[in-house]
Amino acid sequence: MVPTGTMANQLAVALHTRRGDALACHPGAHVRIHEDASAAALSGVQAMPIGDRHGFDAPALDELLDECACGWPPVSLVWLENTLGEAGGAIWPIERLESVSAAARARGCKVHLDGARLWNAHVATGTPLPRFGALADTVSVALSKGLGAPAGSLLCGPRSMVAEVRRRKHAFGGALRQVGVLAAAGLYALDHHLARLADDHRRAARLAAAIADVPCWDVAPPATNLVLARVRPPWRLAEPLCARLRAAGVICFPNVAREVRLAVHLDLDDAAIDEVVARIRATLRDDPA
Ligand SMILES: Cc1ncc(COP(=O)(O)O)c(C=O)c1O
Repeated sequence: MVPTGTMANQLAVALHTRRGDALACHPGAHVRIHEDASAAALSGVQAMPIGDRHGFDAPALDELLDECACGWPPVSLVWLENTLGEAGGAIWPIERLESVSAAARARGCKVHLDGARLWNAHVATGTPLPRFGALADTVSVALSKGLGAPAGSLLCGPRSMVAEVRRRKHAFGGALRQVGVLAAAGLYALDHHLARLADDHRRAARLAAAIADVPCWDVAPPATNLVLARVRPPWRLAEPLCARLRAAGVICFPNVAREVRLAVHLDLDDAAIDEVVARIRATLRDDPA
């Protein structure tokens, strides 16, 4: 167990690579754009983008690995993410993940699955967790986010890796003596908050439908618990719009510069969703668009 998903991911990078290696990931991967270039800073590893914000497939990976064999930086680690955060919690289909994983392994690459929201993919698709586990050498999962524990992520992998991971976790400053408190909350969350993620998905769909006709944005139907709304002109950036919503008590932030992201979670029941819809509609009623 580690304090954050970022630390779990960075431990995986450190574990599976050598300085000067590259890792292959989709362009919107958390490890590439939201971890302050720490794969490069901490492990000397370059993130090579492949595919689009919805992931990539085995032929695209094969093509990248062919380039690596002809002089591009050597990819030693293939990075999966499910659900896809930047794509609004979209699900990377399991069959596609399996073919990517097989292609990576056939070329001698290690595979990591960033499963910060893997629980959402599991509940939304019914895919058994061991089938996700079989995809990768290591899997990171968050106990906070959808599961609702106050903090904590897990880096999961074979027993043979545990001693090495513990040593590196200590070096990264993640060896908490107080970890039992977080582990207890995580165990509670796993026992009580997993199945209810389906409620978040249902509420996200309801929220998206109820705000779809607000004129300042285009709302995408959510796959899981995240609702994305791409701003329309004359709005250029999402942040001023988010600031107006936050001032009205709807806490939200840009997903990317031009998209508002609304996350549905444990603390929002059906009545809260009604209230969010009412506040959004009231706040954006006089929108210039
Ligand atoms: C896909 C993904 N991976 C990793 C993380 C990092 O988690 P943390 O915020 O606990 O560092 C996040 C956080 O949002 C995420 O969405």
